[in-house]
Amino acid sequence: MPRYSITTFGCQMNVHDSERMHDVLRRAGYTEAGGPDEADVLVLNTCSVREKAEQKLRSEVGRLARWKREGEGRVVVVAGCVAQQEGERLLKQLRTIDVVVGPDNIPELPGLLGDLALGGLPVARTVFDLDAPRFLVASPPPASRAAPTAFVTIMKGCDERCSFCIVPHTRGPERYRPSDEIVAEIAALVAAGTREVTLLGQTVNSYRDPLGALPRAPGASADDPDESEFAALLRRVAADVPGLARLRYTSPHPRHLTPSLLLAHAELAVLPRHVHLPVQSGSDRVLRRMIRRYTRAEYVARTRALVEAVPGLTLSTDIIVGFPGETEDDFAATLSLVREVGFKGLFGFKYSRRPHTPALKLPDDVPEGVKGERLARLFEESEALLAAHLSGLVGTTQEVLVEGRDKERGHGGQGGALWSGRTGRHEIAHIEGAAELDLLGEVVEVSIARANKHSLQAELTEAARAAARPRQRGAAEARAARRSLPVVAAEGG
Ligand code: 5AD
Repeated sequence: MPRYSITTFGCQMNVHDSERMHDVLRRAGYTEAGGPDEADVLVLNTCSVREKAEQKLRSEVGRLARWKREGEGRVVVVAGCVAQQEGERLLKQLRTIDVVVGPDNIPELPGLLGDLALGGLPVARTVFDLDAPRFLVASPPPASRAAPTAFVTIMKGCDERCSFCIVPHTRGPERYRPSDEIVAEIAALVAAGTREVTLLGQTVNSYRDPLGALPRAPGASADDPDESEFAALLRRVAADVPGLARLRYTSPHPRHLTPSLLLAHAELAVLPRHVHLPVQSGSDRVLRRMIRRYTRAEYVARTRALVEAVPGLTLSTDIIVGFPGETEDDFAATLSLVREVGFKGLFGFKYSRRPHTPALKLPDDVPEGVKGERLARLFEESEALLAAHLSGLVGTTQEVLVEGRDKERGHGGQGGALWSGRTGRHEIAHIEGAAELDLLGEVVEVSIARANKHSLQAELTEAARAAARPRQRGAAEARAARRSLPVVAAEGG
């Protein structure tokens, strides 16, 4: 039986696509190898959002030439955004590659591998499913075996035209999944033990139900061009899947942070008090050149209204430094926005020229050294905000959804294992002194003992300890191991 291994680069959408590839390959009779050395088929699920990510693929493929020579019939598959972007060209440029498969062609992967095994030539399949969009669903996990957290795709593609971004090219135009299917998938996951679902989409909050089956959400005005049916979907999930503990979403576009979404946040307890809302820049001049379609003042007003609607809600964001023409004044405006909004998390990236993007017409005129220096100043600002926020939580009580175990590092030399998870606001919390309890998938009450640089140290409250199940040797580990995700190669900006 052929064995496969998948390496994933890039965003959560890619992690999700990798899970679908696991599924498609398993159903076709492939088994997962312990690692690339034991595999017959190696899949690289790629990212092309920045040049560095694309270079990573090229160096990885270079290394794989030797891997292929060492085993007969070994096959290299390139999937994901570089596959979609380059298509056939990849086969010509990198002879090590046998199959190139785009994100919309994952179901065809076993067929392509089958043709190859019968002596077929290397092949590229990168066709968008525009007429009949497919949203692949994993086979439902057996009862009580589901991971505590799961991703559910609600839309794919992007109709925005942000001038720096390759995603409209690699993921195609927006296509939405019927709300009935979304609700059914979430209900099945929750029935099998999942507690938290993250709705996924490139501009997740532009969602519209292709079935037209959702009633208009409260607060949604028919003549607001920024309104969508996203709030209506959130309300339907909350109403139809009452067992769901947390409903997150990523990544929203600020344009669609509309009154109906604000109201949903104010009224639905299932929505956690944290939103990741990419802003990209704090300068109106740069936002215009990025074609973001909102101003700094609009971003501030919308996020302020959200925090007023949900006291204590925190925001995180994505920022690009060194976009073409970004002056020191523009960058200072970004820093002041970071302070003004008070982001508690920030992903920062140096601008990177991408093929097929409108910004290619602009000269990449901010020197690399200046980009690096701006990124460092940006991180300094955001780290200070995060540190102040985390230390402010010491002594408070929080609810943590326990996602798994991690190794205890340097705490009194005990060398045991810690439970860890996320608070309602998405802060990472490590739970001490509970090694003998089975907390996987539970929402537990903890008190925050200390703040680390990027996370919290916590202890169960007396009530939570009294209510917890003792751990049956081995069982918790087995469940924790089953939920291990495909390897994600982290990518710096
Ligand atoms: N250069 C640098 N960063 C980029 N991003 C998207 N395109 C580029 C680019 N060309 C960043 C944005 C986006 C995140 C996923 O990646 O901040 O929100």
